Amino acid sequence: HIPVITIDGPTASGKGTLAAGVAARLGYHTLDSGSLYRVTALAARSAGVAPEDEAGVVAIARAMKLQFAGVVVLLDGVDVSEQLREEQIGAMASQVAAHPAVRAALFDLQCAFRQLPGLVADGRDMGTVIFPVAPLKVFLTATAAARAERRHKQLISKGIPASLADLRADLEARDARDRGRSTAPLKPAEDALSLDNSLVGIDASVQQVVDWWEARLPF
Ligand code: CDP
Repeated sequence: HIPVITIDGPTASGKGTLAAGVAARLGYHTLDSGSLYRVTALAARSAGVAPEDEAGVVAIARAMKLQFAGVVVLLDGVDVSEQLREEQIGAMASQVAAHPAVRAALFDLQCAFRQLPGLVADGRDMGTVIFPVAPLKVFLTATAAARAERRHKQLISKGIPASLADLRADLEARDARDRGRSTAPLKPAEDALSLDNSLVGIDASVQQVVDWWEARLPF
């Protein structure tokens, strides 16, 4: 049985940073499931397929050739890691992710990340849909203000101008769409443990998850 820790939560809640920190501590693999929806959105945009076109996006998702090397994502042999972080791609990812058939097309790919010695998977539905039997499920939250500030800092540090008010409005719109969709809406799994990281720093958050994990072992 290959162990999985799931970390779900809203946009800019720090899931990726937390997942990477926990995986580093435990020597586990990571799955950034959002990057799969992002790369689908990017491939659709490049092919001129509209995010509303469910069948068109599914065809794109099935045909795209992906390679993963740590945090680097290659689409058809080209490193697209930087482009995947664009705000426009994040918004398109949320649109393509609302289609049930697109989610189904990415299911097997996500399951394949479960490899020894273990996996830390982050996203929206890791604990509810993709790895429902994971022994530890974390639901990460943070206030909208803290999340907007985090996203703002990330963009400014890359030299990308951004307005805090616009970012907050965008992330609240994206959360509303992620929560309101009928397939795999963003919500905590019934057995998820909650962690609010506007209250604790990254090191303390990583330690909390590692402590929870150690308390679960052996399972
Ligand atoms: O980093 P951020 O939270 O902004 O975005 P992300 O985790 O890369 O996810 C981008 C979009 O993909 C989200 O807004 C979701 O709509 C979608 N997504 C999803 O539906 N299910 C997942 N497991 C992961 C992401």
